[in-house]
Amino acid sequence: MATGEIFRPYERLVEITVMGKNFLVPERNSLLRCFQFISPETIPYGRFCWNQECQYCRVNCQLPDEDQPKPILSCKFMVSAGMNITELSPELEFCLKSKLGT
Ligand code: FES
Repeated sequence: MATGEIFRPYERLVEITVMGKNFLVPERNSLLRCFQFISPETIPYGRFCWNQECQYCRVNCQLPDEDQPKPILSCKFMVSAGMNITELSPELEFCLKSKLGT
């Protein structure tokens, strides 16, 4: 599938932080799609249901206007500029390993 068909239409990239590292990802997509944008060679092969059921996409995320991180499902939550992902599920950690240099 071509990249243009996977991601919802976007005009710009927004910056988010994942485990202390900054990435530019397409606005108006779910966070899990953005993880796929960061790591297209691993996320599609992860054990993700993409449907708010498996919980394998759970992360802790702090928004710029919040004072502490809260757990969210990344397949459900839409990305926004300045999001700070402070904790990843083991499945996401595994899939993003090489991009995070951990
Ligand atoms: S991918 Fe299964 S709950 Fe999010």
